[in-house]
Amino acid sequence: MAAPMDVSGENVRKFIKQGAEAKVYAENFYGRPCISKERFSKGYRHPTLDKSLTLQRLKAEIRAMSKCRNLGIPVPTLYFVDTSTSTFYMEEIVNSQTVRDYIVSIQTSDPDGAMQKLSPLAEKIGKILSKMHCGKVIHGDLTTSNMLLRGDPSDLDIVLIDFGLSFSEGLAEDKGVDLYVFERALLSTHPNTEELFKVVIEAYKKENVKESADAISKLDEVRMRGRKRTMVG
Ligand SMILES: Nc1ncnc2c1ncn2[C@@H]1O[C@H](COP(=O)(O)OP(=O)(O)OP(=O)(O)O)[C@@H](O)[C@H]1O
Ligand SMILES: [Mg+2]
Repeated sequence: MAAPMDVSGENVRKFIKQGAEAKVYAENFYGRPCISKERFSKGYRHPTLDKSLTLQRLKAEIRAMSKCRNLGIPVPTLYFVDTSTSTFYMEEIVNSQTVRDYIVSIQTSDPDGAMQKLSPLAEKIGKILSKMHCGKVIHGDLTTSNMLLRGDPSDLDIVLIDFGLSFSEGLAEDKGVDLYVFERALLSTHPNTEELFKVVIEAYKKENVKESADAISKLDEVRMRGRKRTMVG
């Protein structure tokens, strides 16, 4: 099926980004600003395996988005899914920036006050991740580029995106790994954010005292494993 037309009958598709697995476009969905994400085939994979993996990713992404919505976690509204082209169409979060860009701008404009300024944002992220894990959603690719800040950053209106690697699981181990992935992404993208990650974890704990304790102890375990691996080389 062809991409949906805008109200004027034209579909103006603007390329935004090509990641490892998908191409992202901005376009119109019956007059609404829309983002489409098209998963493409990987030449090195066997065609049958490739097709089934692509479909799996597409389904995982859609499933996680609708689960999050039910949990009250802001995600873009899903508009349309086209399995024949492995594409889904979702609401464009207008007037937004990635958390990554926001952290970079604060760290650049106010290096000394950055920790204090970014602390409420870190707290909110911890709260959202705790809620998501409690609802048995593992994101799989937690980075500051996969979180959007809508409107005025002080509103802390965070929208989670990019659920292509997500799955549904309640095990503390998976939650610990999810948190570890985020810690690595945060620290490697933004210098001097160790304290900020601590704020994330404190809020994560507070939101859900009983369940989060197991996930945090798994996080500690995964960190130890990571460290050992680095030492062995
Ligand atoms: N619904 C949306 N509204 C506004 N901007 C979006 C939306 N979805 C994606 N974007 C923008 O496009 C970028 C890439 O999207 P996304 O993270 O989903 O793809 P990706 O990183 O290429 O995927 P993958 O990590 O699976 O290869 C985001 O960082 C964000 O800037
Ligand atoms: Mg991404």
